[in-house]
Amino acid sequence: MDADLLQIARSTKGFMPEDEGLALHRLACQQLPHGPALEVGSYCGKSAVYLGAAARRTGPECVVFTVDHHRGSEENQAGWEHHDPEVVDPETGLMDTLPTFRRTIASAGLEAQVVAVLGTSVTVSRHWRIPLALLFIDGGHGVQPARDDFAGWPHWVQPGGLLAIHDVFPDPAEGGRPPYEQIYLPALASGHFEEVEAVGSLRVLRRVAGQAGERLPA
Ligand SMILES: C[S@@+](CC[C@H](N)C(=O)[O-])C[C@H]1O[C@@H](n2cnc3c(N)ncnc32)[C@H](O)[C@@H]1O
Repeated sequence: MDADLLQIARSTKGFMPEDEGLALHRLACQQLPHGPALEVGSYCGKSAVYLGAAARRTGPECVVFTVDHHRGSEENQAGWEHHDPEVVDPETGLMDTLPTFRRTIASAGLEAQVVAVLGTSVTVSRHWRIPLALLFIDGGHGVQPARDDFAGWPHWVQPGGLLAIHDVFPDPAEGGRPPYEQIYLPALASGHFEEVEAVGSLRVLRRVAGQAGERLPA
């Protein structure tokens, strides 16, 4: 990954360890020539820099969509473990990571490659129609948000495309369960995905059955 962009990724607020970010970058370099990437959960743009750097490197047509309502997940709200008062809008008292996200992507020079989609994952996925070469799910980590992300997104991965899921912890002692129980396990159980790689808490599955837009078997 280009050193200038790696430096920006390192200094951006967020939840993406460098080894997992570099793995995402490598996977995006491999997949973006075959279609767009989509991320669920932009936050302040840390993982989007790893993905956008791959788009910049791979070609002028390559693009990464990143979906977020920018109001934070449950675990980002005041009183919770991952709250950051610096990303609270003083006028509304609500979390607003969009200004920080925009500064990150602008300072990285990735505004042509990284397209922010502002809205809830459920609403955006309901209207989404574009096959994806790479889907990265790192949205809300509660049971219902994880269920919604599973219902809304993985069927848009094209044959041979990749589904990457963040914060997958098979051992409950290591972290929260929903990405593992509500996304990773059902994706494998569908028979449409096979695991190809694991880096830290990142799990990478390849679509081996079905067509983009075809719902996964329950
Ligand atoms: C774990 S953070 C993403 C971290 C980011 N990928 C990074 O590298 O730092 C999760 C993000 O998902 C967003 N989010 C949570 N639930 C959502 C939903 N239902 N729709 C859209 N965005 C959501 C939150 O606003 C938050 O910014």
